[in-house]
Amino acid sequence: MSKEQTFVMIKPDAVQRGLIGNIIHRFEQKGIKLVAMKLVSVSKDLAEKHYGVHKGKPFFEPTVKYITSSPVVAMVLEGENVIGIVRRMMGKTNPSDAAPGTIRGDFGQFIGRNIVHGSDGPDTAEFEINLWFSKEEIARYNRIDEIWLTE
Ligand code: RTP
Ligand code: MG
Repeated sequence: MSKEQTFVMIKPDAVQRGLIGNIIHRFEQKGIKLVAMKLVSVSKDLAEKHYGVHKGKPFFEPTVKYITSSPVVAMVLEGENVIGIVRRMMGKTNPSDAAPGTIRGDFGQFIGRNIVHGSDGPDTAEFEINLWFSKEEIARYNRIDEIWLTE
């Protein structure tokens, strides 16, 4: 068990379709702690940095266009093993392969409109949190339910 932080983005299609509350509700219900959140109109520069590892791949340009097309909700979530938990809650990258009960499985149909992003490992999480948030934007606080969420 290790305490982690992860970067999560609710992508433009989900914002446009009124799914922000539903997606955040799932993380709240799971008992995951929200430590930062903002609505961002993503610049091309930020999008290209965020998806920098995919530069040169055929889906790079369409993906940059997708996440700069309308605002996104950027968040930092914190908890034990939160990186993997969030990835499992999101489901497979292609919503048509994602299991029912996952965010992508319940709300999406196409890989180019896949609802949500979550960091895929500790190094990526650190890079993405620093890319999207300043230190001052990340809250430090205790939740009153923490003693009931851990053993
Ligand atoms: P994400 O980074 O957004 O959380 O998604 P992921 O780890 O599950 O998938 P990744 O391989 O990192 O791909 C990044 C995003 O690029 C778009 N994509 N399109 N058309 C395609 O074949 C394709 N492949 C990837 C998706 O928006 C994907 O989330
Ligand atoms: Mg990824």
